[in-house]
Amino acid sequence: MAKRILPENLIKFCVEIFVKAGLSTDDACTVADVLVMTDTWGTFSHGTVAILNYVQAIKSGSIDPAGKPRLAGEGPSWAVIDANAGMGMPACCMAMNLAIEKARKQTFAWAGVRNSSHFGAAGYYANMAVKHDMIGIAMSNADPNMVVPGARGHVIGNNPIAYAVPAGKEQPIFLDIALSAVAAGKIFAAKALGHEIPATWITDADGLPTSDPTNWPATGSMTPMAGHKGYGIALLIEVLAGALTGAGILSEVKSWKLHPGEKAYLGQSFLVINPAAILPLDDFKQHIDSAIQELHNAPKAKGSDRIYVPGELEWERREDALRNGIPLPELSFTALYQAGEELGVDTRLLD
Ligand SMILES: NC(=O)c1ccc[n+]([C@@H]2O[C@H](COP(=O)([O-])OP(=O)(O)OC[C@H]3O[C@@H](n4cnc5c(N)ncnc54)[C@H](O)[C@@H]3O)[C@@H](O)[C@H]2O)c1
Repeated sequence: MAKRILPENLIKFCVEIFVKAGLSTDDACTVADVLVMTDTWGTFSHGTVAILNYVQAIKSGSIDPAGKPRLAGEGPSWAVIDANAGMGMPACCMAMNLAIEKARKQTFAWAGVRNSSHFGAAGYYANMAVKHDMIGIAMSNADPNMVVPGARGHVIGNNPIAYAVPAGKEQPIFLDIALSAVAAGKIFAAKALGHEIPATWITDADGLPTSDPTNWPATGSMTPMAGHKGYGIALLIEVLAGALTGAGILSEVKSWKLHPGEKAYLGQSFLVINPAAILPLDDFKQHIDSAIQELHNAPKAKGSDRIYVPGELEWERREDALRNGIPLPELSFTALYQAGEELGVDTRLLD
Protein backbone atom coordinates (compact mmCIF):
# COMPACT_ATOMS: atom_id res chain seq x y z
CA MET A 1 0.00 0.00 0.00
CA ALA A 2 1.31 3.49 -0.88
CA LYS A 3 2.73 5.55 1.97
CA ARG A 4 0.51 8.54 2.75
CA ILE A 5 1.41 12.07 3.81
CA LEU A 6 -0.85 14.77 5.22
CA PRO A 7 -1.18 17.71 2.79
CA GLU A 8 -0.30 20.22 5.54
CA ASN A 9 3.00 18.43 6.27
CA LEU A 10 3.85 18.25 2.59
CA ILE A 11 3.12 21.98 2.22
CA LYS A 12 5.33 22.82 5.23
CA PHE A 13 8.20 20.75 3.83
CA CYS A 14 7.92 22.28 0.34
CA VAL A 15 7.80 25.82 1.74
CA GLU A 16 11.06 25.14 3.63
CA ILE A 17 12.69 23.77 0.48
CA PHE A 18 11.71 26.74 -1.66
CA VAL A 19 12.71 29.29 0.99
CA LYS A 20 16.12 27.58 1.20
CA ALA A 21 16.28 27.75 -2.61
CA GLY A 22 15.92 31.55 -2.40
CA LEU A 23 12.19 32.27 -2.75
CA SER A 24 10.38 34.70 -0.45
CA THR A 25 8.10 32.98 2.07
CA ASP A 26 5.00 34.25 0.21
CA ASP A 27 6.21 32.86 -3.12
CA ALA A 28 7.29 29.58 -1.50
CA CYS A 29 3.76 29.22 -0.01
CA THR A 30 2.18 29.83 -3.42
CA VAL A 31 4.41 27.28 -5.17
CA ALA A 32 3.85 24.71 -2.40
CA ASP A 33 0.08 25.21 -2.57
CA VAL A 34 0.02 24.63 -6.35
CA LEU A 35 2.15 21.47 -6.16
CA VAL A 36 0.36 19.94 -3.18
CA MET A 37 -3.13 20.71 -4.55
CA THR A 38 -2.03 18.89 -7.72
CA ASP A 39 -0.91 15.88 -5.68
CA THR A 40 -4.26 15.79 -3.84
CA TRP A 41 -5.93 15.43 -7.25
CA GLY A 42 -3.73 12.42 -7.96
CA THR A 43 -2.04 14.27 -10.84
CA PHE A 44 1.30 13.16 -9.44
CA SER A 45 3.24 13.84 -12.69
CA HIS A 46 2.88 17.60 -12.05
CA GLY A 47 2.93 17.76 -8.27
CA THR A 48 5.81 17.61 -5.81
CA VAL A 49 7.63 14.98 -7.88
CA ALA A 50 8.97 17.96 -9.87
CA ILE A 51 10.51 19.64 -6.80
CA LEU A 52 14.06 18.71 -7.82
CA ASN A 53 13.52 20.03 -11.34
CA TYR A 54 12.53 23.41 -9.91
CA VAL A 55 15.48 23.44 -7.48
CA GLN A 56 17.88 22.49 -10.28
CA ALA A 57 16.44 25.16 -12.58
CA ILE A 58 17.03 27.71 -9.81
CA LYS A 59 20.58 26.46 -9.26
CA SER A 60 21.39 26.53 -12.99
CA GLY A 61 20.05 30.10 -13.35
CA SER A 62 17.06 29.19 -15.57
CA ILE A 63 14.73 30.47 -12.85
CA ASP A 64 15.50 33.56 -10.75
CA PRO A 65 14.13 32.74 -7.26
CA ALA A 66 13.97 36.48 -6.47
CA GLY A 67 12.30 37.39 -9.80
CA LYS A 68 9.15 39.32 -8.86
CA PRO A 69 6.18 39.50 -11.23
CA ARG A 70 5.19 43.02 -12.26
CA LEU A 71 2.25 44.47 -14.14
CA ALA A 72 3.54 45.23 -17.66
CA GLY A 73 0.31 46.57 -19.18
CA GLU A 74 -3.46 46.58 -18.65
CA GLY A 75 -6.83 47.76 -19.87
CA PRO A 76 -10.31 47.45 -18.36
CA SER A 77 -10.59 43.77 -19.33
CA TRP A 78 -7.02 42.62 -19.87
CA ALA A 79 -3.58 42.61 -18.27
CA VAL A 80 -0.08 41.35 -18.99
CA ILE A 81 2.33 40.35 -16.23
CA ASP A 82 6.09 40.10 -16.69
CA ALA A 83 7.27 37.21 -14.49
CA ASN A 84 10.87 38.49 -14.56
CA ALA A 85 12.10 34.91 -15.06
CA GLY A 86 10.89 34.02 -11.55
CA MET A 87 8.89 30.92 -10.63
CA GLY A 88 5.79 30.62 -12.82
CA MET A 89 3.26 30.06 -10.04
CA PRO A 90 3.33 33.48 -8.28
CA ALA A 91 3.08 35.33 -11.61
CA CYS A 92 0.27 33.05 -12.83
CA CYS A 93 -1.71 33.43 -9.58
CA MET A 94 -1.28 37.21 -9.84
CA ALA A 95 -2.55 37.10 -13.46
CA MET A 96 -5.54 34.88 -12.64
CA ASN A 97 -6.50 37.03 -9.64
CA LEU A 98 -6.36 40.14 -11.84
CA ALA A 99 -8.50 38.47 -14.52
CA ILE A 100 -11.08 37.48 -11.87
CA GLU A 101 -11.25 41.05 -10.54
CA LYS A 102 -11.60 42.47 -14.04
CA ALA A 103 -14.27 39.89 -15.01
CA ARG A 104 -16.30 40.97 -11.95
CA LYS A 105 -16.64 44.39 -13.61
CA GLN A 106 -16.30 43.55 -17.31
CA THR A 107 -17.90 40.05 -17.54
CA PHE A 108 -14.99 38.70 -19.66
CA ALA A 109 -11.32 39.21 -18.85
CA TRP A 110 -7.98 37.93 -20.05
CA ALA A 111 -4.57 38.07 -18.39
CA GLY A 112 -1.31 36.82 -19.83
CA VAL A 113 2.16 36.17 -18.42
CA ARG A 114 5.45 36.55 -20.27
CA ASN A 115 9.08 35.89 -19.38
CA SER A 116 7.75 33.05 -17.27
CA SER A 117 8.70 29.57 -16.12
CA HIS A 118 6.92 26.24 -15.68
CA PHE A 119 3.55 26.77 -13.94
CA GLY A 120 2.78 23.16 -12.94
CA ALA A 121 -0.75 21.89 -13.59
CA ALA A 122 -3.02 24.20 -15.60
CA GLY A 123 -6.04 23.10 -13.57
CA TYR A 124 -4.93 24.94 -10.42
CA TYR A 125 -5.46 28.32 -12.11
CA ALA A 126 -8.73 27.41 -13.86
CA ASN A 127 -10.13 26.41 -10.46
CA MET A 128 -9.18 29.76 -8.93
CA ALA A 129 -12.01 31.31 -11.00
CA VAL A 130 -14.50 28.68 -9.86
CA LYS A 131 -14.00 29.76 -6.23
CA HIS A 132 -15.55 33.08 -7.36
CA ASP A 133 -18.39 31.38 -9.29
CA MET A 134 -16.69 32.14 -12.60
CA ILE A 135 -15.53 29.98 -15.52
CA GLY A 136 -11.73 29.74 -15.76
CA ILE A 137 -9.57 28.70 -18.69
CA ALA A 138 -5.80 28.38 -18.25
CA MET A 139 -3.09 27.48 -20.73
CA SER A 140 0.68 27.55 -21.13
CA ASN A 141 3.07 26.87 -23.92
CA ALA A 142 5.91 24.43 -23.29
CA ASP A 143 9.35 23.84 -24.78
CA PRO A 144 9.06 21.89 -28.06
CA ASN A 145 8.67 18.20 -27.23
CA MET A 146 6.06 17.13 -29.78
CA VAL A 147 6.08 16.42 -33.50
CA VAL A 148 3.45 17.76 -35.94
CA PRO A 149 1.99 15.93 -38.98
CA GLY A 150 4.62 15.68 -41.74
CA ALA A 151 7.56 16.65 -39.49
CA ARG A 152 10.16 14.83 -37.42
CA GLY A 153 11.70 15.78 -34.08
CA HIS A 154 10.68 18.36 -31.50
CA VAL A 155 8.57 21.02 -33.20
CA ILE A 156 5.94 22.33 -30.75
CA GLY A 157 5.15 21.96 -27.02
CA ASN A 158 2.49 19.55 -25.73
CA ASN A 159 0.92 22.77 -24.43
CA PRO A 160 -1.43 22.15 -21.47
CA ILE A 161 -4.93 23.59 -21.21
CA ALA A 162 -7.52 23.41 -18.43
CA TYR A 163 -11.02 24.71 -17.92
CA ALA A 164 -13.19 24.70 -14.80
CA VAL A 165 -16.91 25.49 -14.52
CA PRO A 166 -18.86 26.14 -11.30
CA ALA A 167 -21.81 23.86 -10.60
CA GLY A 168 -24.57 23.96 -7.97
CA LYS A 169 -24.84 20.78 -5.90
CA GLU A 170 -22.35 18.94 -8.11
CA GLN A 171 -18.58 19.38 -8.06
CA PRO A 172 -17.15 21.80 -10.66
CA ILE A 173 -16.52 20.40 -14.12
CA PHE A 174 -12.74 20.45 -14.56
CA LEU A 175 -10.68 19.23 -17.51
CA ASP A 176 -6.89 19.49 -17.33
CA ILE A 177 -4.86 17.99 -20.17
CA ALA A 178 -1.69 18.28 -22.21
CA LEU A 179 -2.04 18.10 -25.99
CA SER A 180 0.21 15.09 -26.57
CA ALA A 181 -1.41 11.69 -27.12
CA VAL A 182 -0.19 10.71 -23.63
CA ALA A 183 1.75 12.45 -20.89
CA ALA A 184 5.55 12.12 -21.05
CA GLY A 185 5.50 10.36 -17.66
CA LYS A 186 3.80 7.30 -19.19
CA ILE A 187 6.50 6.99 -21.86
CA PHE A 188 9.29 7.39 -19.27
CA ALA A 189 7.64 4.67 -17.16
CA ALA A 190 7.41 2.21 -20.10
CA LYS A 191 11.02 2.97 -21.02
CA ALA A 192 12.21 2.37 -17.43
CA LEU A 193 10.37 -0.98 -17.35
CA GLY A 194 11.60 -1.99 -20.84
CA HIS A 195 8.00 -2.17 -22.13
CA GLU A 196 6.78 -1.55 -25.67
CA ILE A 197 4.29 1.28 -26.10
CA PRO A 198 1.40 1.77 -28.56
CA ALA A 199 2.78 3.11 -31.86
CA THR A 200 0.47 6.13 -31.56
CA TRP A 201 2.40 7.68 -28.64
CA ILE A 202 5.74 8.72 -30.21
CA THR A 203 7.60 8.95 -33.50
CA ASP A 204 11.22 7.89 -34.10
CA ALA A 205 14.19 9.88 -35.47
CA ASP A 206 12.68 9.66 -38.99
CA GLY A 207 9.31 10.98 -37.82
CA LEU A 208 7.69 7.55 -38.15
CA PRO A 209 5.48 5.83 -35.56
CA THR A 210 7.37 3.50 -33.20
CA SER A 211 6.49 1.28 -30.26
CA ASP A 212 10.09 1.36 -28.95
CA PRO A 213 10.66 4.12 -26.35
CA THR A 214 14.41 3.32 -25.92
CA ASN A 215 15.72 6.36 -27.78
CA TRP A 216 13.03 8.75 -26.66
CA PRO A 217 13.28 11.69 -25.92
CA ALA A 218 16.83 12.11 -27.34
CA THR A 219 15.56 11.20 -30.78
CA GLY A 220 11.90 10.94 -31.61
CA SER A 221 9.09 13.00 -30.27
CA MET A 222 5.66 12.80 -28.67
CA THR A 223 2.71 12.81 -31.07
CA PRO A 224 -0.17 15.29 -30.79
CA MET A 225 -3.49 14.18 -29.28
CA ALA A 226 -5.85 13.32 -32.18
CA GLY A 227 -3.23 14.19 -34.85
CA HIS A 228 -3.85 17.47 -36.66
CA LYS A 229 -6.53 18.44 -34.11
CA GLY A 230 -4.15 18.41 -31.12
CA TYR A 231 -1.52 20.14 -33.26
CA GLY A 232 -3.98 22.89 -34.20
CA ILE A 233 -4.99 23.56 -30.60
CA ALA A 234 -1.33 23.49 -29.45
CA LEU A 235 -0.71 26.21 -32.05
CA LEU A 236 -3.64 28.26 -30.70
CA ILE A 237 -1.97 28.10 -27.28
CA GLU A 238 1.31 29.33 -28.82
CA VAL A 239 -0.70 32.32 -30.07
CA LEU A 240 -2.60 33.08 -26.84
CA ALA A 241 0.09 32.19 -24.26
CA GLY A 242 3.17 33.00 -26.33
CA ALA A 243 2.72 35.59 -29.10
CA LEU A 244 -0.09 37.60 -27.45
CA THR A 245 1.73 37.98 -24.12
CA GLY A 246 5.12 38.80 -25.66
CA ALA A 247 6.59 35.50 -24.41
CA GLY A 248 8.63 33.08 -26.49
CA ILE A 249 6.95 30.79 -29.02
CA LEU A 250 7.98 27.37 -30.38
CA SER A 251 11.81 27.04 -30.38
CA GLU A 252 12.23 30.36 -28.50
CA VAL A 253 10.95 28.48 -25.42
CA LYS A 254 13.80 26.64 -23.69
CA SER A 255 13.70 23.39 -21.76
CA TRP A 256 15.07 23.46 -18.20
CA LYS A 257 16.55 20.02 -18.85
CA LEU A 258 18.03 20.49 -22.33
CA HIS A 259 19.15 24.11 -21.84
CA PRO A 260 20.13 24.43 -18.17
CA GLY A 261 21.01 28.02 -17.25
CA GLU A 262 18.90 29.54 -20.04
CA LYS A 263 15.67 31.41 -19.27
CA ALA A 264 12.59 29.50 -20.43
CA TYR A 265 10.67 32.48 -21.90
CA LEU A 266 7.43 30.59 -21.37
CA GLY A 267 4.05 32.28 -21.60
CA GLN A 268 0.69 31.64 -19.98
CA SER A 269 -2.82 32.77 -20.78
CA PHE A 270 -5.87 33.00 -18.49
CA LEU A 271 -9.46 33.69 -19.50
CA VAL A 272 -12.29 34.33 -17.06
CA ILE A 273 -16.03 34.56 -17.78
CA ASN A 274 -18.43 35.81 -15.12
CA PRO A 275 -21.78 34.02 -15.70
CA ALA A 276 -23.53 36.10 -13.01
CA ALA A 277 -23.18 39.18 -15.25
CA ILE A 278 -25.03 37.40 -18.08
CA LEU A 279 -27.83 35.45 -16.39
CA PRO A 280 -29.01 34.51 -12.87
CA LEU A 281 -26.12 32.57 -11.34
CA ASP A 282 -28.35 29.94 -9.70
CA ASP A 283 -30.03 29.21 -13.04
CA PHE A 284 -26.63 28.73 -14.66
CA LYS A 285 -25.39 26.44 -11.88
CA GLN A 286 -28.58 24.36 -11.93
CA HIS A 287 -28.22 24.00 -15.70
CA ILE A 288 -24.64 22.73 -15.22
CA ASP A 289 -25.88 20.31 -12.53
CA SER A 290 -28.50 18.96 -14.92
CA ALA A 291 -25.85 18.52 -17.66
CA ILE A 292 -23.69 16.55 -15.22
CA GLN A 293 -26.65 14.39 -14.19
CA GLU A 294 -27.64 13.75 -17.80
CA LEU A 295 -24.07 12.65 -18.57
CA HIS A 296 -24.01 10.38 -15.51
CA ASN A 297 -27.28 8.80 -16.61
CA ALA A 298 -26.31 8.22 -20.25
CA PRO A 299 -26.64 4.57 -21.36
CA LYS A 300 -23.54 2.63 -20.23
CA ALA A 301 -21.32 0.67 -22.56
CA LYS A 302 -21.21 -3.09 -22.02
CA GLY A 303 -19.05 -3.76 -18.95
CA SER A 304 -19.12 -0.12 -17.79
CA ASP A 305 -20.88 0.76 -14.55
CA ARG A 306 -20.06 4.44 -14.38
CA ILE A 307 -19.67 7.55 -16.53
CA TYR A 308 -17.34 10.26 -15.26
CA VAL A 309 -17.53 13.97 -15.91
CA PRO A 310 -14.13 15.69 -16.29
CA GLY A 311 -12.75 16.51 -12.85
CA GLU A 312 -14.79 13.92 -10.97
CA LEU A 313 -11.84 11.55 -10.52
CA GLU A 314 -9.72 14.42 -9.18
CA TRP A 315 -12.39 15.63 -6.70
CA GLU A 316 -12.84 12.10 -5.34
CA ARG A 317 -9.08 11.62 -4.95
CA ARG A 318 -8.79 15.01 -3.25
CA GLU A 319 -11.53 14.16 -0.75
CA ASP A 320 -9.69 10.95 0.12
CA ALA A 321 -6.32 12.76 0.33
CA LEU A 322 -7.70 15.41 2.69
CA ARG A 323 -9.20 12.74 4.93
CA ASN A 324 -6.50 10.05 4.85
CA GLY A 325 -3.37 11.73 3.48
CA ILE A 326 -2.01 11.81 -0.07
CA PRO A 327 -0.92 8.36 -1.39
CA LEU A 328 2.22 9.82 -2.98
CA PRO A 329 4.09 7.50 -5.35
CA GLU A 330 7.56 6.35 -4.38
CA LEU A 331 9.03 8.51 -7.16
CA SER A 332 7.65 11.65 -5.48
CA PHE A 333 8.97 10.64 -2.03
CA THR A 334 12.40 9.94 -3.56
CA ALA A 335 12.49 13.42 -5.14
CA LEU A 336 11.36 15.06 -1.88
CA TYR A 337 13.93 13.25 0.30
CA GLN A 338 16.66 14.11 -2.22
CA ALA A 339 15.63 17.77 -2.25
CA GLY A 340 15.71 17.74 1.58
CA GLU A 341 19.21 16.29 1.59
CA GLU A 342 20.50 18.70 -1.09
CA LEU A 343 19.17 21.77 0.70
CA GLY A 344 19.66 20.64 4.29
CA VAL A 345 15.95 20.59 5.15
CA ASP A 346 14.78 18.20 7.88
CA THR A 347 12.95 15.35 6.11
CA ARG A 348 11.13 14.10 9.23
CA LEU A 349 7.95 15.85 8.02
CA LEU A 350 7.93 13.27 5.20
CA ASP A 351 8.08 10.21 7.48
N1 LIG B 1 3.17 22.94 -17.28
C1 LIG B 1 3.37 22.21 -18.34
O1 LIG B 1 4.19 22.54 -19.19
C2 LIG B 1 2.58 20.94 -18.57
C3 LIG B 1 2.83 20.19 -19.71
C4 LIG B 1 2.10 19.03 -19.90
C5 LIG B 1 1.14 18.63 -18.97
N2 LIG B 1 0.90 19.40 -17.86
C6 LIG B 1 -0.08 18.97 -16.85
O2 LIG B 1 -0.08 17.55 -16.80
C7 LIG B 1 -1.29 17.10 -16.24
C8 LIG B 1 -1.72 15.80 -16.87
O3 LIG B 1 -2.04 15.96 -18.25
P1 LIG B 1 -2.49 14.68 -19.11
O4 LIG B 1 -2.62 15.10 -20.51
O5 LIG B 1 -1.64 13.52 -18.76
O6 LIG B 1 -3.95 14.42 -18.48
P2 LIG B 1 -4.83 13.10 -18.58
O7 LIG B 1 -4.74 12.49 -19.92
O8 LIG B 1 -4.53 12.25 -17.38
O9 LIG B 1 -6.33 13.68 -18.43
C9 LIG B 1 -6.75 14.24 -17.21
C10 LIG B 1 -8.09 14.92 -17.40
O10 LIG B 1 -9.01 14.04 -18.04
C11 LIG B 1 -10.16 13.86 -17.20
N3 LIG B 1 -10.60 12.46 -17.34
C12 LIG B 1 -9.81 11.36 -17.20
N4 LIG B 1 -10.56 10.25 -17.40
C13 LIG B 1 -11.82 10.66 -17.67
C14 LIG B 1 -13.06 9.99 -17.97
N5 LIG B 1 -13.15 8.67 -18.03
N6 LIG B 1 -14.16 10.74 -18.21
C15 LIG B 1 -14.08 12.11 -18.15
N7 LIG B 1 -12.95 12.78 -17.87
C16 LIG B 1 -11.85 12.07 -17.63
C17 LIG B 1 -9.71 14.16 -15.81
O11 LIG B 1 -10.78 14.55 -14.98
C18 LIG B 1 -8.71 15.31 -16.07
O12 LIG B 1 -9.37 16.53 -16.21
C19 LIG B 1 -2.24 18.28 -16.35
O13 LIG B 1 -2.40 18.80 -15.05
C20 LIG B 1 -1.51 19.31 -17.22
O14 LIG B 1 -1.84 20.65 -16.91
C21 LIG B 1 1.60 20.55 -17.65
